[in-house]
Amino acid sequence: MSRAIRVVQLSDTHFLEEGAEPEGGHGYDTAEAFDAVLGHLGDQSGVDLVVVTGDVADHGRAEQYRRAADSFARFDVPVNVCPGNHDLDAAFGAGIGRPGVSTSRVIHAGSWAFVFVDSSAGLMEPDESGVHIDPPGEERLHSNGRLGPREAAWLTGVCDQTTAEHVFVWLHHPPAPGLPLSHDDDYEAEWARLLRGLPGVRGLGGGHTHVPNEYEFAGRQVFVAPSLKNNFDLETREWLPPGYRSYDFGADGSVTSQVHLIDDERWPRHPFGRALHALFMGELSHAELAEIVARRTARGN
Ligand SMILES: [Fe+2]
Repeated sequence: MSRAIRVVQLSDTHFLEEGAEPEGGHGYDTAEAFDAVLGHLGDQSGVDLVVVTGDVADHGRAEQYRRAADSFARFDVPVNVCPGNHDLDAAFGAGIGRPGVSTSRVIHAGSWAFVFVDSSAGLMEPDESGVHIDPPGEERLHSNGRLGPREAAWLTGVCDQTTAEHVFVWLHHPPAPGLPLSHDDDYEAEWARLLRGLPGVRGLGGGHTHVPNEYEFAGRQVFVAPSLKNNFDLETREWLPPGYRSYDFGADGSVTSQVHLIDDERWPRHPFGRALHALFMGELSHAELAEIVARRTARGN
């Protein structure tokens, strides 16, 4: 029997310009976190592919993609990247490509097809010449997932035409992650409907929530990777260190995955407060949380 395909997944790398502050505050130095991941991985000889599932840049800007792509090029193995809501389509497309760093939409490996979905594609709209472009302003940056009919039809077409036995979907927004802040009924319904017609899809791997997790949706395993910007354990109400996931894809269609968090004094597992918990529970908006943080900062505590 042929050996398993081994994949390392990073997500929500949120690269910044040199010395810039992260959007929303309370973020780690993501370049430093990236170095820590690379060090933690050590010898990459057993790894076949590295995938990065979106929110590559913190704010979709060219310099942020230059830093991200230069970092991804340091892996010894091929890297493939799909966009998230913090990635702007044109800047992402222009900024990521390097030798060894790609934005392929389908990669075949052994008996598997890895399919890279843009889970914000449904937000894009045709311009006057019919080319689909991002919505104006910051709409994409702060949106939940939306596949839209074009992306859904494309995924169905790929699954119909691939000669691979098994399909695994990589994307930014995991459907129905069980988190009020990131939950979206319409997006869940899109995936529930789509997966009914795609029996070859064995599972999905995403990010977005910054809450590492593994759960079942529509009979498939869904894996959520930690981010480099910050991570949270909602049960213990603690900040978690940055990290990544590793996967083994068996020739028989099995998928096993592990979360790796890089415990280090730079990222202590300290408790987070009521306001942040209320944000995750959908009881407070990002803007309201930002106001609370600003008031506390002004008071000097
Ligand atoms: Fe995101």
